[in-house]
Amino acid sequence: MSSKAKRALITGVTGQDGSYLSELLISKGYEVHGIVRRSSSFNTSRIDNIRGDVRDPRAKLLLHYGDVTDSANLSAIMHRVQPDEVYNLAAQSHVRVSFDMPVYTVDSVAFGAIKVLESVREAQQSLGKQIRFYQASSSEMFGKVMEVPQKETTPFYPRSPYGVSKVFAHWATVNYRESYGLHASCGILFNHESPRRGETFVTRKITRAVGRIKLGMQDKLFLGNLDAQRDWGFAGDYVEAMWLMLQRAEADDYVISTGKMISVREFCRLCFERVGLDYQKYVATDPRYFRPAEVEQLLGDCTKAKQKLGWTPRTSVEMLAHMMVDADLELAKREKTLRDAGHAVESEEREHHH
Ligand code: NAP
Ligand code: GDD
Repeated sequence: MSSKAKRALITGVTGQDGSYLSELLISKGYEVHGIVRRSSSFNTSRIDNIRGDVRDPRAKLLLHYGDVTDSANLSAIMHRVQPDEVYNLAAQSHVRVSFDMPVYTVDSVAFGAIKVLESVREAQQSLGKQIRFYQASSSEMFGKVMEVPQKETTPFYPRSPYGVSKVFAHWATVNYRESYGLHASCGILFNHESPRRGETFVTRKITRAVGRIKLGMQDKLFLGNLDAQRDWGFAGDYVEAMWLMLQRAEADDYVISTGKMISVREFCRLCFERVGLDYQKYVATDPRYFRPAEVEQLLGDCTKAKQKLGWTPRTSVEMLAHMMVDADLELAKREKTLRDAGHAVESEEREHHH
């Protein structure tokens, strides 16, 4: 590790965005540190290809056990790593689950953010170096939208414990910027997806099912509200915007989106069509997946990011759907091969016993 390399610390490094951001920062020559939760099973599959051993001088991604609900641990890590940039991506990030776990969602999303902010403020003071901060704000804060499209000045109207918590974290970040002069920026990111998306978010749930249905491993796909509309982009494009925000002389808040919105139904059509199937034959609704309060539509206007950051989305929703379906078809093929091999071994064993 070069002592001149910039150091970044990422909370939520094991998640979708954490993995893409790590890759981006490493490609830019950063030494990347990530906070990982202790878990009884492995939770680092998205970063296993890039992580290194702390004793390896060539290691570019170093992991620290921690949790954003634990202030003492955050403070210790901040002092150990002495980062130049901190990206706060950790969250219980599933909107439907936030209705089942409102208190934990507030703990990780709202209190977690303020605990990270406090540890940054304290470390910056005691280490005598500037630490730039990124907060993962969300289009979910617009909720029951007050104008279309949504931009940085659109009032918030959150519709879930998750959205409410993100509004708190967002304003806490603005407040630390204004109160303490912290270089703290919020990226108000609209939905962004990838082949690494968690399997219970709707896009990935659809593309996983398309792969399995195409290979005859699944018959039906049960979804909730098919009429919800989202502005879906590619996670790989969106993490670049996070980095760009922290390279600006002034900290600020930016909407990151594609400017195009389609329905869940339309996303299904795109994905099933990719493998030559008609979604209407396979998709059914199950009220289990409805939400107590729904965000019906989200559409972003990222003019400010285009003008000030020089950022622009490069992946259309059609390209995104195809990328995800292609990856999940390959995954389903590997699963099928394993399953068939398992069956072959089983029947061989049966023959042997009889
Ligand atoms: P994700 O895949 O769900 O990843 C969340 C990450 O946070 C995981 O690494 C998870 O660890 C970690 N985490 C959860 N609770 C934690 C805790 N108490 N302490 C430490 N780490 C914790 O989410 P994502 O899609 O990458 O999103 C990244 C961030 O952007 C989140 O804050 C999300 O709310 C926000 N956001 C996402 C989108 C989107 O469309 N993807 C849009 C706007 C904003 P485990 O792996 O151990 O679970
Ligand atoms: N998850 C899920 N599962 N959603 C479904 C389903 C289903 O079976 N059927 C329909 N939907 C609808 C949801 O009701 C919602 O309107 C839409 O599909 C998108 O749901 P998700 O993919 O779960 O994402 P989200 O928009 O609720 O939240 C995501 O985007 C936010 C940014 O706007 C998450 O990544 C949040 O963390 C992020 O902040």
